Amino acid sequence: MTNKIPVWIDVDTGVDDSAALLVACKLPQLDIRGISAVAGNVVLANSFENTRRVCALAGRSEIPIYPGADRPLFNVLETASHIHGEDGLGGAEIPPSPAPVETKPAWDALYEAAVACGGELQVISVGPLTDLAIAFQKYPELKTLIKRILIMGGAAKGGNVTPCAEFNIVADPHAAQMVFKAGVQVVMCGLDVTMQAYLTHPELAQIENYDSDVCRFMGTAIARAKAFYAAIIAPIVCLHDVCPVLFAAYPHIFSGEEAGVYVETRGTITNGKTVTDLWSDKQFPEKNAFVVLDVDREAFAGLVTDILTSY
Ligand code: RIB
Ligand code: CA
Repeated sequence: MTNKIPVWIDVDTGVDDSAALLVACKLPQLDIRGISAVAGNVVLANSFENTRRVCALAGRSEIPIYPGADRPLFNVLETASHIHGEDGLGGAEIPPSPAPVETKPAWDALYEAAVACGGELQVISVGPLTDLAIAFQKYPELKTLIKRILIMGGAAKGGNVTPCAEFNIVADPHAAQMVFKAGVQVVMCGLDVTMQAYLTHPELAQIENYDSDVCRFMGTAIARAKAFYAAIIAPIVCLHDVCPVLFAAYPHIFSGEEAGVYVETRGTITNGKTVTDLWSDKQFPEKNAFVVLDVDREAFAGLVTDILTSY
């Protein structure tokens, strides 16, 4: 495919990160230049190893994977192991990767990839934004070399850690603020759209029952999340992290609005909130983000199912 989109993917592999990686590794539209793992859902050692193993399962062990930050910039790491399991894959076991273990820090590798792509690199980040923030701090010119940042993170309304904060942002609000203020347009796939980006139990069954190692893995990995959502929301599983990946390749199934977005870093009740001017008279000086608000759920579910059952 000509005109592939050069992307860098930063993950805190976890269960929905795994789905995002498996989808990304199959998309012909994407030229994955590198992947980095950050501490978030689980500790760095687990998110790094999980990322290596999931990419090997996808048959993409040639993609270099780099270790990122093992903690937020200033906050203490608080994982989401209650959802993803201590291992981060919901207890699913997959073979180790044959790929050599990269030791170069994520921020250095990301910078080198951005230079090599001459300003065309797009960064997809689906965990805390610590790695990207460090890269921006170490390489001030990086903001001129990244075309766009697509994140799973934040929420114009609501939150899943507090009533106004989403996990990836509140895990490292200082890093998130640095990214929103870096001067690179951010496509924000927050809870506003990712809570719509779900698969129903019958849709999940098509993946769980498909005879492939990838689908057997996904079936096991999502079981814990399935029970979590069924207990507190509905018989669904939201695949949050798949949203920015599919936005990059299929933007037409999504919709949203330009907005100013900045992060609360000093609040007590509001700490980690992505404050947007979508619905306020007073506007921020800049529209630094595109806030994704809706998705064609049927199209989303169909793409995820088709891609995961194509392995
Ligand atoms: O709030 C959902 C986000 O937090 C997802 O990226 C999930 O993987 C967790 O990191
Ligand atoms: Ca994640």
